Amino acid sequence: MLILGIETSCDETAAAIVKDGTQVLSCVISSQRDRFAQSGGVIPEDAARQQVLCMLPVLHACLTEANITPNTLDAIAVTKGPGLLGSLLVGTTTARVLATLWKKPLIGVHHTLGHLSSTWLSDDSRLPIPDSQFPILTLSASGGHTDLWHRTSHTKGTLLGSTRDDAAGEAFDKGASLLGLPYPGGPSIAKAAESGDPHAYNFPLPLHNDPSLDFSFSGLKTSLRYLLRDLDQSQIINRKSQIVHIACSYQHALCAHLIDRILRALHRHPEIHEVHLVGGVSANTYLRTTLQSAITAQYPNIVLRHPSKIIYCTDNAAMIAAAGEFLVREHGEKTYESFETTASLPLAMAVAN
Ligand code: KG4
Ligand code: ZN
Repeated sequence: MLILGIETSCDETAAAIVKDGTQVLSCVISSQRDRFAQSGGVIPEDAARQQVLCMLPVLHACLTEANITPNTLDAIAVTKGPGLLGSLLVGTTTARVLATLWKKPLIGVHHTLGHLSSTWLSDDSRLPIPDSQFPILTLSASGGHTDLWHRTSHTKGTLLGSTRDDAAGEAFDKGASLLGLPYPGGPSIAKAAESGDPHAYNFPLPLHNDPSLDFSFSGLKTSLRYLLRDLDQSQIINRKSQIVHIACSYQHALCAHLIDRILRALHRHPEIHEVHLVGGVSANTYLRTTLQSAITAQYPNIVLRHPSKIIYCTDNAAMIAAAGEFLVREHGEKTYESFETTASLPLAMAVAN
């Protein structure tokens, strides 16, 4: 199938065309990250206003880049939620109008199912993504969620654990703000951490004695706040000279918590064949390499995969088009049923049991 994907759940305006759920023919994203770097976060009304302006030029660029005409499309897939309501409405209203004008079936996609589909995306037809073997353990970690999934197919599975407070990406963003580093915090902490020592400062491992597979990041953020306060009060150490080491140790602590939960899940589920890392936080190189070392050491037969390009980790429309394809494959005509655009969409609705 040839599917046009549209994604506008947060501050980005994105459109992509994907063939057979894997081959990306075009992937266009207009991001407002630079505008919101100054405000330290997204201003919802501002984001939606900008998306109204960007939507049609982004769609035009997407069709031109893929070199296709709308009549060759098989369907349109759009993020129906969760996210910022005004932003979501820009995408879903556009998709509804196009589906009517072009007489194409419309697929409403849960944003999280989009992230879960992102590891199959490739923009090089000579390098097809190898087939995956289910069951797959997927960590989906972004600015809005941190979830651990046990998946038996592309669209079926169960949620093993979730965050009890902040999301992992949010912990990067709030940590960066405390450290005086720019938004979004993930890339800026990763950059500062490049020349730091991950063991310079010790942060506690969250939920260490908790038998669940849940996550918690608020304690790490509080530890960081106290550490910075103590350094400021200290006459001996200059805080500025320590930023790279603090950023590096904080990144290490966040990643150690994510990896701890993944290893516990693998221990409990020996039937797992692959581990997938998705969402904005999966762009983190330190997380990728430390998790790979841990898996190689303890579970050498398990394959670790993450999206083939950084743009497929963070919000994009190719993952929405891929999810649309997998929904049609696994649920047939039911996929085309009408849907509501909604800001809060339960996680259970991302994946069927
Ligand atoms: O998936 P995404 O683009 O949007 C949401 O659905 O939230 O994820 C954005 C989040 C932000 O919190 C950002 O700080 C984080 O992903 N992120 C990273 C990195 N790049 C983006 N976190 C850690 N390391 C990175 N390299
Ligand atoms: Zn996302």
